[in-house]
Amino acid sequence: MSSLSETRDDVRSTFTEETSEDLVVASFGDMPDPRLREIMNSLVRHLHAFVKEVGLDQREWEQGIQFLTATGQKCDPTRQEFILLSDVLGVSMLVDAITNATEPRATDSTVLGPFHMVDSPARELGSWIGEVGAGEQALIRGRVLSADGTPLPRALVDVWQADEQGFYDVQVPDRVSEGHLRGLFTTGADGVFWFRTVVPAPYPIPTDGPVGDLLEATRRHPYRPAHVHFIAGAEGHRPVTTHIFVEGSPHLDSDAVFGVKESLVKPFVLVDDPRLAQAHGLDGPFRLCEFDLVLEQADSR
Ligand code: BEZ
Ligand code: FE
Repeated sequence: MSSLSETRDDVRSTFTEETSEDLVVASFGDMPDPRLREIMNSLVRHLHAFVKEVGLDQREWEQGIQFLTATGQKCDPTRQEFILLSDVLGVSMLVDAITNATEPRATDSTVLGPFHMVDSPARELGSWIGEVGAGEQALIRGRVLSADGTPLPRALVDVWQADEQGFYDVQVPDRVSEGHLRGLFTTGADGVFWFRTVVPAPYPIPTDGPVGDLLEATRRHPYRPAHVHFIAGAEGHRPVTTHIFVEGSPHLDSDAVFGVKESLVKPFVLVDDPRLAQAHGLDGPFRLCEFDLVLEQADSR
């Protein structure tokens, strides 16, 4: 027969609503990696608190498991439904805020999104980044600078955007060729980059999967405001992944993935000056957007 103290230990190690967190956290007691232990302990504590707070029952747990299973099944080499889930839950932007708490003079970062191509086509400064077609023409130009204002020559500026209907090249392969509205530029001696393009339209994030179902069930719209993506990098500096958002675009105050930062909203000013248009190889009135990409020095932390 067991002693009284052994009986009490047995009772304490019985799994109940009260003991659940402590028991699971204790199971990680021998974990050698302190950071992994911190993360797992906190994850378990928050997860158990959540289940208890909402009183999650068996049927709801099964629905949750089905949702996560479908999310995984939707993933393939070009579709990452878990990142999309993280995006619409604001987790991607929260991790971005924690990771990229940059020095105040540097350009703010935002989500990468699923439409980046590792190999954007290299283009000459001033090029069109797409096949010239419909859409309002735009000239985008600026400089890549170090946080102290020094221009950064030979910096890389990777650009990609949706078209005037809100589609990326990979979404409409029958209409445009790969590389449409994408470009990889190298800044000139003065840190300058510039290119010709069209003003992008707002667009919905992919909704043909479980994340789309979630948005519909929770009555949330899937739209992102019009934007152009950038990754800028230069030797000795931390690269920045960011966008510029078209000032006045719908959905600036309700981006489905919470990516908008005020500092990234830029005017696309109407320029109706035939001489200026001609000087930049544009047909007629166009939109001009000017801004600098400012990078933090790599050794500044
Ligand atoms: C995008 O801007 O390309 C994007 C970002 C997050 C989710 C979906 C799309
Ligand atoms: Fe985008």
